Amino acid sequence: MSGLDIDRAVRERYGAGAQQREQALCCAVDYDPTLLEVIPKEILERDYGCGDPSQHVRVGDRVLDLGSGTGKICYIAAQKVGASGRVIGIDVNEEMLALSEKHRRSIGDVLGYHNVEFRKGAIQDLGLDLARVEAWLTEHPVRGIVDLQALEAFQEQLRRESPLVPDESIDLVLSNCVLNLVKPSAKRMLFSEIHRVLAPGGRIAISDIVSDRDIPEALQNDAELWSGCVSGAFREDRFLHAFEQAGFRGLRIAVRGREPWQIVEGIEFRSVTVTGVKPPEKIGGEKSVLYRGPWRAVQDESGRTLERGIPTRVSAADYALLTGSEYDAGVEGLEGVDGASCCPPTTQESKSQSSPSSDSPSSCC
Ligand SMILES: C[S@@+](CC[C@H](N)C(=O)[O-])C[C@H]1O[C@@H](n2cnc3c(N)ncnc32)[C@H](O)[C@@H]1O
Repeated sequence: MSGLDIDRAVRERYGAGAQQREQALCCAVDYDPTLLEVIPKEILERDYGCGDPSQHVRVGDRVLDLGSGTGKICYIAAQKVGASGRVIGIDVNEEMLALSEKHRRSIGDVLGYHNVEFRKGAIQDLGLDLARVEAWLTEHPVRGIVDLQALEAFQEQLRRESPLVPDESIDLVLSNCVLNLVKPSAKRMLFSEIHRVLAPGGRIAISDIVSDRDIPEALQNDAELWSGCVSGAFREDRFLHAFEQAGFRGLRIAVRGREPWQIVEGIEFRSVTVTGVKPPEKIGGEKSVLYRGPWRAVQDESGRTLERGIPTRVSAADYALLTGSEYDAGVEGLEGVDGASCCPPTTQESKSQSSPSSDSPSSCC
């Protein structure tokens, strides 16, 4: 485990990176040039992203950008969601927030609507409004244990009564090269926070740096490599697994850098963009789906196997998920009511019923 003060290393690096372009933190990305026209140069040149998650933004989305930096992805997303959508950028760094905020009004004036805001917070603790904590601390400086307990009680109250990002309030969580910067002890909480703030059916599009092997302790103790998006990178398979563990489905490596961005001590570090969805709310009933191929069978994150060409009964919520545009996995919905359809029964069905019920619709296939 790293003995490094990771928060400090990251804070100092990005505080400086907000004031002056830092070449070592840049990773060439092609954004849609027409969406960059309204964004000032001093924002664009301090681009420390490693992918373009904004490609997954839709009109009307309520978007949350984790680790918004100078605000570039937020301003791109602002144009894609349009006047009916909203964009919130979260960052913990004072200098980054100041630069992103500096141009907020003028960009909104050019667009003709103001739908972006920046909030101070740690992405692993999206309930805690750090601007309010700082304001409270000026009135109540911490001088001992009793003061510390009062601070903790205030923080709990804030999370409960006025969370920085409320439960289920977001349609799409984006992030560009930030998750790797969160210290190991907070990474599990980070994924559960992303899940908490998303509405049922909400999506993720996360660009980050991943490694092809475990990162040795010596690298994890290197402040420069940590803040440079190297030492905290997830091993690629673990990155996907962390989203799966947090409850996401339909996970996909939407973009994967063919060439490594860096090779350090023989370990390859490359950029990926992962997409996925938070399952929709549970709804009653069952329906049948049919997997069309090309594989003989596929398995979803809940361990269910869909065999090519064989109708499979799933819950109504899973039906919506598997046949929705997020999955886009060759699974077709067979619109039979309650699964009692004209379609051939699954193995399971044929064990429990000998023939379709007489009142089932006959023209559903
Ligand atoms: C590599 S830069 C990426 C900035 C931006 N996403 C972009 O595309 O240019 C990382 C950003 O994440 C912020 N950051 C790092 N750790 C954070 C944390 N735990 N909570 C909130 N912001 C964090 C840094 O302050 C910095 O602005």
